[in-house]
Amino acid sequence: MIESPLILALDMETLDEMWSVLDLVGDKVRQIKIGHRLFALGGRDLLKRLNERWRVFLDFKLHDIPSVVSLAVRTLADEGVWALTLHTAGGRKMLEGAVKERERSGSDMLLLGVTILTSLSKEDWEELAPGASFESALLARARICYECGLNGLVCSAKDLDLFREGFGKELIKVVPGIRIDGGVEDQARTATPKEAIVKGADFIVVGRSITRAKDPRLAIDIIEKEIREGKACLERSF
Ligand code: C5P
Repeated sequence: MIESPLILALDMETLDEMWSVLDLVGDKVRQIKIGHRLFALGGRDLLKRLNERWRVFLDFKLHDIPSVVSLAVRTLADEGVWALTLHTAGGRKMLEGAVKERERSGSDMLLLGVTILTSLSKEDWEELAPGASFESALLARARICYECGLNGLVCSAKDLDLFREGFGKELIKVVPGIRIDGGVEDQARTATPKEAIVKGADFIVVGRSITRAKDPRLAIDIIEKEIREGKACLERSF
């Protein structure tokens, strides 16, 4: 079994496209991430098939009133997925309710809180929450994840310095917005795989740098090499 912090984000339009990517690189990854679209197309049958070969990360970023989110977690907890995301903007009661539902079901599905989307720049944040400090919001959201009993959080590599000490150390840090080709697309706060690992990412999420690469297998090799280099830097600093 491959042991790697890489999570492959599958943001395709069709299931056929998803399967062709998995046919090409599925043997090189352990974790895969799907969102609303592929789940809407494939439903539970798709989860069942994917669960047989990969750890499935369901990136739903749930954000609604607590009772509605609890209902969703109750339903998804039995699907055998590895991890599910919730949006921390939903607040403490929503997150606590989700954890309670997961516990009630006896499931070991990881619950991860999205802090601030990696597609949002500090300017976007200022427009959304005028005068509120970006760093304070990140820290507050991360602290709520910890206090509510979530397993971890999703943040950008740029934010990881905030979580090196204290409660942040206890949380699994999942980092999207990773690039190996210098592209940015709709992301605002990006980093290379090596930077993210050196800064303390436990898992990195990579989508288009792999799926849109000329040679997706080679892209994964490059990412894995950077991960090894990042880990070596960490070992040297201890
Ligand atoms: O293609 P790319 O590598 O930018 O894909 C990043 C993936 O990570 C997308 O599937 C996106 O939904 C997800 N994600 C993100 N920022 C977050 C949380 C999840 O980009 N804060």
